[in-house]
Amino acid sequence: MSSDFLKDLISSQLAPIKDLLEDPTVSEVMINGPHEIFIERGGLVTKAPNSFRDEATLLAAMNAVARSVNRYIDKDNPRLDARLPDGSRVAVVIPPMAKNGTTAAIRKFSEEKLGLKDLINFGSLSPDGARFLDCCMYMGKNTLVSGGTGSGKTTMLNVLGSRMPKTQRLLIIEDASELQIKAEHVVQFETRKADPNKGLTEITIRDLMESALRLRPDRIIVGEVRGPEALDLLNAMGTGHDGSMGTVHANSPQDACTRLETLCLMGETKIPADAIKKMVGSALQLIVQCSRYHDGGRRTSHISEVLGVDEHGRYITKDIFRWVQRGVDPDTKKFIGEMVPCGYVPTFFEEIVANKLPFPKSKFQPPEWAVPLLLEQQKKKAA
Ligand SMILES: Nc1ncnc2c1ncn2[C@@H]1O[C@H](COP(=O)(O)OP(=O)(O)O)[C@@H](O)[C@H]1O
Ligand SMILES: [Mg+2]
Repeated sequence: MSSDFLKDLISSQLAPIKDLLEDPTVSEVMINGPHEIFIERGGLVTKAPNSFRDEATLLAAMNAVARSVNRYIDKDNPRLDARLPDGSRVAVVIPPMAKNGTTAAIRKFSEEKLGLKDLINFGSLSPDGARFLDCCMYMGKNTLVSGGTGSGKTTMLNVLGSRMPKTQRLLIIEDASELQIKAEHVVQFETRKADPNKGLTEITIRDLMESALRLRPDRIIVGEVRGPEALDLLNAMGTGHDGSMGTVHANSPQDACTRLETLCLMGETKIPADAIKKMVGSALQLIVQCSRYHDGGRRTSHISEVLGVDEHGRYITKDIFRWVQRGVDPDTKKFIGEMVPCGYVPTFFEEIVANKLPFPKSKFQPPEWAVPLLLEQQKKKAA
């Protein structure tokens, strides 16, 4: 289907939300049944006055969207997760599972992929934090980007992937192609859903991972690690594909390690659980935590090193950088704060020196004003 077809669809069946879909300041449209529509703008969610005439009209509209990408919504396929030709993502669930009536979220594709500079301008990363990540990408640190839904994980992965050295061959595997990594040597794979009507079998991330490893990758990037492919990614990280990356859904760096472990165990693996824990602790080196704050801002809340597992089986992570809040702007209510170093020098600092990367040890020392705030955060975390 062409983008023209999409335009027609927006003017016909999606007409009730046309203005929202065409408004570049709206990043997401959430439909909770025909008469309740919310939008996200600048990170904040508000109710929109729009509505569909009735449930049947809404369902027909979502069906038209599904058909446009050769999918169906019906009793047998009551859920849809699809990417439209313009890159937008649509998720739909219909009644009786959806109690509000047909429920959908349309995450609009933003043409402008954010870069490292944008993340610095938004205050999501400090210039030093960004420089440090750059060093890590150069040295090929195995990195997990962690965060909740819509916290900026894919954006971060895209930015980090684009900072990898030109000599590297990158293999990207995703459920729905989203990443647009700017690099010289990139190979991109996308999974396929089963479609019995067309005699198509499912091709999973694990399947593609198996092929990827035979295609001489230097580094492997898995867009979203959501299942047992976690083990394959971990194996790749541990077998010479330094600098491999992925994203997971987790709320803290420690949580991210646990999440990866849980996902590994979802597959029918014969590897015992504590061996997997050790694998996670040793293969992973860096966690970049993305967070959505209450003011609507998306920020990199932590850049942490993974040091392994302690004698109680807990993951040891050390924060290298953290975002700290200094106050609230009285007019805009936006949080005021910045990313600061935490006073911890990563274990691989000597490698930074050996590679002659411009990142002196002094840059790991927090500014004086931030010390009490960091301590306070630490106390809250421990409590
Ligand atoms: N640091 C940031 N500041 C502002 N907006 C951001 C930031 N990071 C991401 N975004 C925007 O937030 C939305 C969701 O980001 P995305 O990376 O897709 O999140 P996730 O992969 O965690 O679901 C996108 O529209 C993206 O452009
Ligand atoms: Mg994402």
